[in-house]
Amino acid sequence: MTSPDSDHSHLTRRDNLLTLQSHVLAEQAKIPGATGTFSWILSALSLSAKVISSKIRRARINDVLGSLGSENVQGETQQKLDVIANETLLRCLGSREGVSVVGSEENDDPIFLERGRDSGGYAVLFDPLDGSSNIDCAGGVGTIFSILRHDPSSSDVGETLQPGHRQVAAGYVLYGSSTVFVLTSGNGVHMFVLDPTIGAFLRVAENLQMPRKNKVYSCNEGNRLTFPDGYQRYLSWAQENGYSSRYVGAMVADVHRTLLQGGVFLYPPTKKAPDGKLRLMYEANPMAMILEQAGGRAFAGKQRLLDVIPSKLHQRTSVVMGSADEVDAVLSHL
Ligand code: AHG
Ligand code: MN
Ligand code: MN
Repeated sequence: MTSPDSDHSHLTRRDNLLTLQSHVLAEQAKIPGATGTFSWILSALSLSAKVISSKIRRARINDVLGSLGSENVQGETQQKLDVIANETLLRCLGSREGVSVVGSEENDDPIFLERGRDSGGYAVLFDPLDGSSNIDCAGGVGTIFSILRHDPSSSDVGETLQPGHRQVAAGYVLYGSSTVFVLTSGNGVHMFVLDPTIGAFLRVAENLQMPRKNKVYSCNEGNRLTFPDGYQRYLSWAQENGYSSRYVGAMVADVHRTLLQGGVFLYPPTKKAPDGKLRLMYEANPMAMILEQAGGRAFAGKQRLLDVIPSKLHQRTSVVMGSADEVDAVLSHL
């Protein structure tokens, strides 16, 4: 029996203490000639997540709940925390040389940042606060981001309108019972949890693979009667086959549960949102990249989401995304 002081197995165990920052630097080290620009952007997103998490958890104490009374470009009433989260991200990303342009759900147009010739190179698109209708009742909310390559010399909006398969990275932060940061840069899905006692995101899972099936569907059934017939047929089939329903009303929370437990999240076209409600560029595409990297599937109607060619920054889409077999079960009814 080895004595504790001679047992160094903890130094080789796979569950070594790794932070988001050390994970990002380790990934950077694998890329010959990497400049660190991309790592700096992820560092800005990590900092933003910590700041937003802190503000959300003290929102009622600091009296920053509720709406501002203003509307965003989406025609949606802005919550005070929508704007606070947006400003936090703009401030953190604006100071990073690698960011040429940012696009936000809360800003009408993309913001092009003056960059030197040999810097810039990335576009960061984000939904600063997703599920904000949950914020006043302490429900799950999140931040969603998408990172694309961008020519720093271009200030053409069209440069940012790339199909989702061109994303170089995607991720989200869930401000739930814990603050969870989920990230993919095309080499698997990795999950980190904020340890507020040390202010660091600790890696708790890498190369996540989602269950191929789970009898859970997630949609707003209040809209059921205005769903196209195929979706209604699917819901009847699911209920006849013992499926459960889970719906938080915040995409980040519903997709995170689907990633970890399996199932399918769907927001079909409705009478109120005939093209779907969710935004392609900074809600659907980043989530689609993550779920595909985890072995899942993501569709807009019968088209693979990551192949949809965008025409507008705030373009809407319907979504069906989740476990491969569960997405196929929906598609088979459309
Ligand atoms: P946001 O708060 O950024 O506007 O996003 C809300 C979205 C998404 O998070 C969620 O899945 C969906 O709206 C819920 O819509 P319904 O309330 O119509 O179900
Ligand atoms: Mn959203
Ligand atoms: Mn939002």
